[in-house]
Amino acid sequence: MSDKTNKITCIGSGTIGSGWATAFLMKNCNVCLYDVSPEQLESSKKLILSNLKLLEDKQVFENRSMGEIFENITFTTDFEEAVKDSRFIQESGPENYEIKKRILADVDLYAPEDAIFASSTSGLLITKIAEDSSHPERCIGAHPYNPPHLIPLVEITKGEKTSRDIVDKAFSFYTSIGKEPVMLNKESLGFIGNRLSFALYRELITMVINDCCSVEDIDKVVTYGIGMRWAILGPAMLYDLGAGDAGIRGMSKLDTTLNMVFKDLSNLNHMPKVWYDVAEKGLESEKENFPDFIGKTRPEIAKFRDNMLVEVLKLHKKI
Ligand SMILES: NC(=O)c1ccc[n+]([C@@H]2O[C@H](COP(=O)([O-])OP(=O)(O)OC[C@H]3O[C@@H](n4cnc5c(N)ncnc54)[C@H](O)[C@@H]3O)[C@@H](O)[C@H]2O)c1
Repeated sequence: MSDKTNKITCIGSGTIGSGWATAFLMKNCNVCLYDVSPEQLESSKKLILSNLKLLEDKQVFENRSMGEIFENITFTTDFEEAVKDSRFIQESGPENYEIKKRILADVDLYAPEDAIFASSTSGLLITKIAEDSSHPERCIGAHPYNPPHLIPLVEITKGEKTSRDIVDKAFSFYTSIGKEPVMLNKESLGFIGNRLSFALYRELITMVINDCCSVEDIDKVVTYGIGMRWAILGPAMLYDLGAGDAGIRGMSKLDTTLNMVFKDLSNLNHMPKVWYDVAEKGLESEKENFPDFIGKTRPEIAKFRDNMLVEVLKLHKKI
């Protein structure tokens, strides 16, 4: 049953806003989705329906149909309507300080004073987004990973004026809807997940451009090697298992190798212009070799990803 008194507002109905709306609907929230563009809201409606269809096909909903779940969302281009009576506002507008600050100014104007404002920003500082707000204490960064309805992680950041109470409430709220929030001690560029991902991406780019291996080789190494383990346990825990009873200290036997490899790792500090041509070509040939059950087009591959994510989530008892 939806709790009509617990209204969640999603601002911005692009890739991430639509995913958040799906995530909240999955957990029986009463969602209002706002966008400046009516056309975008129409596309978002289709995306949410297709997200729900996949989940229904995978028998994720107990005793509920996707039709019943979809009754718990409204779509609007009226900002006041969107945020009035809301207790939690998940902002997923464009990645731009000016736009996010303007959205927050309207939230200050129309939303209840105690509503939490959570920005999905991928890298902007919540302190700066909230610098002109009359309620900076209620603002947090809450960074999801795509697709937000299937990836449990939410990285929470606290601005200089964010209250501890708001952070705790947001943490409890995300936990209550099955997310795995992680709270950063300090605002940090790229948070945790993207710092790790970008370090890997930098190495990937460097190895391919230096003709050490192909794009397909790297994707295989991650999909059928190191990444398979990461879907089960984190890298630090995996190293703790790597040396048997000796635990992580036992891994010191690799220190000499690590010292050599650390010195050899990429120190690329800008995106090479040639990369996108090289990457596109590499990805085309990778797709050519995909088996039929994965598919060849982007929508087919995205559907394969989402199907597999649901299976992994089931194994983790997260869905
Ligand atoms: N795409 C990702 O993988 C990803 C992952 C994590 C976080 N994020 C972050 O989430 C946010 C949204 O990203 P996205 O990929 O969904 O972008 P997007 O471009 O797909 O969607 C942005 C939406 O905001 C709407 N919009 C424009 N001006 C607006 C305004 N004034 N008020 C409300 N809505 C407005 C647009 O119409 C569009 O629907 C960004 O801050 C981004 O950094 C993105």
